[in-house]
Amino acid sequence: MRTDIASQPLTIFRKDYIAPGFWVDTVEMGFDLDPIATHVATRMTMRRNHDSSEKNLVLFGETIKLLQLRMNGVNLKKSAYSIADGKLTILNAPDVVTLEIETVIAAGKNTSMSGLYVSNGNFFTQCEAEGFRKITYYPDRPDVMGTFTIMLRGDKKKYPVLLSNGNLIAEGDLGDGRHYATWEDPFKKPSYLFALVAGKLVCQEEKYKLKSGRKVLLQVWVEAGNLDKTQHAMDSLKNSIRWDEERFGLELDLDRFMIVATSDFNMGAMENKGLNIFNTKYVLANPSIATDVDYAGIESVVGHEYFHNWTGNRVTCRDWFQLSLKEGLTVFRDQEFSADLVGTETGRAVKRIEDVRVLRQVQFSEDAGPMAHPVRPDSFVEINNFYTVTIYEKGAEVVRMYYTLLGHDGFRKGMDLYFKRHDGQAVACDDFRAAMADSSGHDLAQFERWYSQAGTPRVKAETSYDADAKIYQITLSQTCPDTPGQSKKLPFHIPVAIGLLGADGKDLKLQLEGQTTTSNNTLVLELTAESQTFRFTGITQKPTPSILRNFSAPVVLEYAYTDEELGHLLANDSDPFNRWEAGQRLATRRLVKLTNAVQKGEELELDAMFIEALRATLNDTTLDPSFREVVLTLPSEAMIAEEFAVVDPQSIHTARQFVRASLAQHLKSDLLSAYENNLTPGKYSPDAVSAAKRGLKNVALAYLLAWPDDATFMLAKTQFDEAQNMTDRLAALSGLSNFSGSAKNTKAAAQSLQKFYKDFKNEALVIDKWFMLQASAYTCDVAKVRELMKHSAFTLSNPNRARSLIFNFCNANPARFHAADGSGYALWAELVIALNKLNPQVAARLARSLDRWKKYPQNLQAHMKAALQKVAETKKLSKDVLEVVSKALA
Ligand code: ARG
Ligand code: ZN
Repeated sequence: MRTDIASQPLTIFRKDYIAPGFWVDTVEMGFDLDPIATHVATRMTMRRNHDSSEKNLVLFGETIKLLQLRMNGVNLKKSAYSIADGKLTILNAPDVVTLEIETVIAAGKNTSMSGLYVSNGNFFTQCEAEGFRKITYYPDRPDVMGTFTIMLRGDKKKYPVLLSNGNLIAEGDLGDGRHYATWEDPFKKPSYLFALVAGKLVCQEEKYKLKSGRKVLLQVWVEAGNLDKTQHAMDSLKNSIRWDEERFGLELDLDRFMIVATSDFNMGAMENKGLNIFNTKYVLANPSIATDVDYAGIESVVGHEYFHNWTGNRVTCRDWFQLSLKEGLTVFRDQEFSADLVGTETGRAVKRIEDVRVLRQVQFSEDAGPMAHPVRPDSFVEINNFYTVTIYEKGAEVVRMYYTLLGHDGFRKGMDLYFKRHDGQAVACDDFRAAMADSSGHDLAQFERWYSQAGTPRVKAETSYDADAKIYQITLSQTCPDTPGQSKKLPFHIPVAIGLLGADGKDLKLQLEGQTTTSNNTLVLELTAESQTFRFTGITQKPTPSILRNFSAPVVLEYAYTDEELGHLLANDSDPFNRWEAGQRLATRRLVKLTNAVQKGEELELDAMFIEALRATLNDTTLDPSFREVVLTLPSEAMIAEEFAVVDPQSIHTARQFVRASLAQHLKSDLLSAYENNLTPGKYSPDAVSAAKRGLKNVALAYLLAWPDDATFMLAKTQFDEAQNMTDRLAALSGLSNFSGSAKNTKAAAQSLQKFYKDFKNEALVIDKWFMLQASAYTCDVAKVRELMKHSAFTLSNPNRARSLIFNFCNANPARFHAADGSGYALWAELVIALNKLNPQVAARLARSLDRWKKYPQNLQAHMKAALQKVAETKKLSKDVLEVVSKALA
């Protein structure tokens, strides 16, 4: 690797935090919008923070041209300040300062989608984490909070709509074809929550009455032609507002709340105060372009950004190491929001299952790789690389554990105290933990390790039953693997929810020896030591333990279940999560064994016990279709890979396909009935009940196509041709494009794919699906990806499009990406390098696809290492990409 010391980026450490030398009180900014040169005049009042050891006035600035710098009315001489490494330092500043700064931004050339940029001729901003410094020199750190007044000026024809945070206080004509709008945000905020939007946009709007009776204006802004796709986002926003009032007593604090959609966006969405900016993917929906999954995604992301208004904006982060303070908490809130909206107990459980799947598949993998970091990291090179599943999803699990430990009301009390103490402040993860501990009296000192230690803990359970004494004993032991920079982990405080099933499948009454609390179903054990034994008294029969109910902690649970016990749990557990889990354990066991058999060239066979267990679930109409769907869904290839020390993607794929085909063969008539019995004729509605039916029906269809004949092919073809909504159309097309049957049918499948393109070529989000579907199909190899990259609709510069083809191939098509000749990795390297020039954040995300290279066989490892090195040696590598590849190679 190149060791060019000068270009090695700086690591930032949490322990080096120093309070800002100066606070900001007010900020006034004027923007003259022009894609070539946007002029920005900023005037801010600042005062010394006498409690800080930082004596200088420090501002950050990047990629901007500084035209003017005035302090207290006087032009600053070059000798009065220095600019180096993106920092402008004013020496000997007085205690009270008014700074006037003029900067120029080439927004039209900004392809990074951070700071001020142009998309389809419209202006947008993205300032989290450190984009504001690409707009003006500023103390761009989240603990510096000021009140902002923004005046936008621009051409009336090109930019008829001018939006910023807060309330519109003035607008008017400037003559010469230009106009202006002035926005005032009454709340103090850090600069990362600043936003502006300007351009040709239209909106759906509505006056909405809060519980308090106050009326607010809600708007969803989109490009012309998309107003038929905003209703669901608007509905989701109203649901979010009501939910936060009811569940947490939190009210919208502004008179106006705006959502704006752009097709060029690095992530999902952004919670800028009163002016949320969204990826179109999480706004636009109608039945003909969006699937049930899209509808659910929009609901949860609209909720997520809205909930940030309290958890993130009113109470923000002291520094970026505390990112999970707002993200983990807000993900927990959006998960609860979605679960509450479904309403039913099974619906809640299915949502939980879906969330845990993501956690296990992506976060557990991150925790086991070179980028592993604690929920509150100790260091980073580029903060944008730390918007991770660990910060978000594991962070949400950490918040959920408070909820599990303190109970529904206890958690609410903790939240109330958190806001009472910290409204208007920038605080740390420890402050949240203190609010939870102080409001409940629960000792949460050891709980801190969930924030400081990386890695996925493993909890091993051992049980014994003493029939004479009627005592059932369970011993729980915990370990946690080493992670980069951290070895010898200390024990975590782990809530382990447990139930015991009798032979009749019912929960036994639980009484812990020496304790007064009892339960008719579940008890939460608190594992705090390395190993602890819990004894249940009055147990008159040897039970089947249901451990870690509802996934009460983000750990791997090891327990030597027999197949019979798992079958018993799958058929009876009152905890739907563990019921599903039992099925997944049965499946995983078989998938691992079969993968080994594939490698040894042995004959493959699927046992009757497993087939019959799935048949029983599939045919149990007392179970919600959504639950049957998740039970029927096999662990993904990525999940199966986690079971192996050395991963062989091809054999895993073959084994999984074999299981799918065997199930399809044996359950054919059951699958056909499930298909027939879950049709949803009539007008499409995204509600949970009909979505669940479509889900089960389409999983049945996918199975049927795994062991196909002409009739099942026709079923899929007909569903594709006659679908009245995107959910059914895409499910059918996905089946068809994974199809390997007769030549005639394969050709017909290809024609369907072409027709889909033709029918939807003007709907960018649908074309993304078209690329995605092909990229993740087993029929798509590296050559096919290269061919698709030449398609006129493909471009690397749109993040959604790049993700749909490239990311899906590299992350969701392991058997092809890991081609034995290394051609997948060569493509990866090429594209990381190309993206690095355009958009470092997106490039760094793609760079993560090779994180786990040390888990593969030697020949693949060699190819992967070469690809990583090729990227690492590239000139002008962004610190985003450099951090990822150097950690991978370390
Ligand atoms: N705060 C935003 C959200 O979670 C995401 C911002 C991501 N920023 C970034 N630089 N990656 O809703
Ligand atoms: Zn967030």
